[in-house]
Amino acid sequence: MEKVVLGVDIGTSAVKTIVVNQQGQVLASANKPITTLHPQAGFSEQHPDEWVQATKDTLQTISEMESMRVVQVEGMSFSGQMHGLVLVDQYGEAIRPAILWNDTRTTEQCEIIKKRLGQYVLGNPVLEGFTLTKMMWVKQYEPSNWERTYKFLLPKDYVRFKLTGVLSMEVSDASSTLLLDPKTQQWSYDTGALFGIDAQIFPDLTSAESYVGNVKPDVAKSLGLNTNIQVFAGGGDNACAALGSGVVKPHDTLCSIGTSGVILTCEANAASYGQNMHLFQHALPHVSYIMGVTLAAGDSLAWFQKTLAPELSFDDILLLAQQSSIGANGLLFTPYLSGERTPHGDAYIRGSWIGLSSLHTRSDMARAVIEGISYSLYESILYLRENGKSLTHITATGGGAKSDFWLQLQADIFNASMRKLSHEEGPSMGAAIIAATGVNWFDSMEACSRVFVTYDKEFHPDSVNHQQYKRYFDIYRQVYTQSQPLTEQLLMISEARDNEITH
Ligand code: XUL
Repeated sequence: MEKVVLGVDIGTSAVKTIVVNQQGQVLASANKPITTLHPQAGFSEQHPDEWVQATKDTLQTISEMESMRVVQVEGMSFSGQMHGLVLVDQYGEAIRPAILWNDTRTTEQCEIIKKRLGQYVLGNPVLEGFTLTKMMWVKQYEPSNWERTYKFLLPKDYVRFKLTGVLSMEVSDASSTLLLDPKTQQWSYDTGALFGIDAQIFPDLTSAESYVGNVKPDVAKSLGLNTNIQVFAGGGDNACAALGSGVVKPHDTLCSIGTSGVILTCEANAASYGQNMHLFQHALPHVSYIMGVTLAAGDSLAWFQKTLAPELSFDDILLLAQQSSIGANGLLFTPYLSGERTPHGDAYIRGSWIGLSSLHTRSDMARAVIEGISYSLYESILYLRENGKSLTHITATGGGAKSDFWLQLQADIFNASMRKLSHEEGPSMGAAIIAATGVNWFDSMEACSRVFVTYDKEFHPDSVNHQQYKRYFDIYRQVYTQSQPLTEQLLMISEARDNEITH
């Protein structure tokens, strides 16, 4: 029997499970989409039990595959969307839908924290996406749910708890809550206490590669899996995407374009960089990472598709963009459809088209969207370079890494070489690496990633193109400051109108 491990990613749009052998080959995979609820503007929620069911569905699909008859599953681990608040009661049931990373309802709570502790807490900017703000919101607006809270968890930790019966939170994810001390990797109960978060509701911490328990026998049997599958804690999706892309050592850098977009660079010291850069723990011990986030990266492209090109696939839209030219014939797009995290930290800024004329085509518009997403990520790269990072080589992952055209465009805009992976598995590969190391196939996750992660080709920057993009980028950079007051006025009008309608 061939030995395999399972890597499960609890993503925002779907749960994805992969089956990986000792050479790092993906033998099978299954996906199950997840529904996001938007009960009010700015709210973004999912039902934790839908993640559990979707995970079970992918496991069931896999266990029914013919090819699984000749393999033995030894271990399993998880990756998950970060920050999302799951509250469980004393019976281990989710009290309310999870409040996700891209939910922006907690500006009031951010202000309370900032007044008390300043713009940064435990190395991180105080942003609506982060878990502490969501806890404060529930405490304030849903006191009866808060009173029933036994522990708080993050998405993948809840799924792991449901599969094993063991409740804990893994550190790379915990570092995204605003409640973990980056120096000690322990909970900062004092920070929680300042905002009325009782020490009792903090779960025990566990490191990414820790053995947590086995899949519960009844669950394993019902899914057609063997009963001795060892489960390892796992990591936040950005840590797992980095691990699954071989981004593991200080200075290794990742550009991930999925729903959100991320520039992530590994660090030996847990140092805060300011400018709304995040400071989180990697899945590897003693490695942290600095990360800049564009909230609506792939999401901007998804919006373009839904609104302006419903008959086209993403590949078609990229072909369309390729037909336009650098600068999209004088059209700029800012991807602030859901606000922005880095560098602006503004949940209320909105996107814009600048320079739109009757001569522009859909092809220019598609190009402007692709360029705008890339400019937004370039802002993080530039800031990191200004602060001593060289960032000359970047590994690409996510949807944005599937197109050679977009990879060359990233190389040209970022003025860096972009490395493409041979297989684009995303964070689930990081989860598989954690499991493979957990079952002792390798001495370390780094050693495992050297075997599991292979590269295809590299895209080198063209300096002439970079100079051309830079002229547009210099204008792009000004759009935030100039459009911010206008966006604020628009928001006031629409809020006043909403109030008139509801009263
Ligand atoms: C990171 C972040 C997102 C989510 C989505 O800070 O909010 O990348 O992890 O997957």
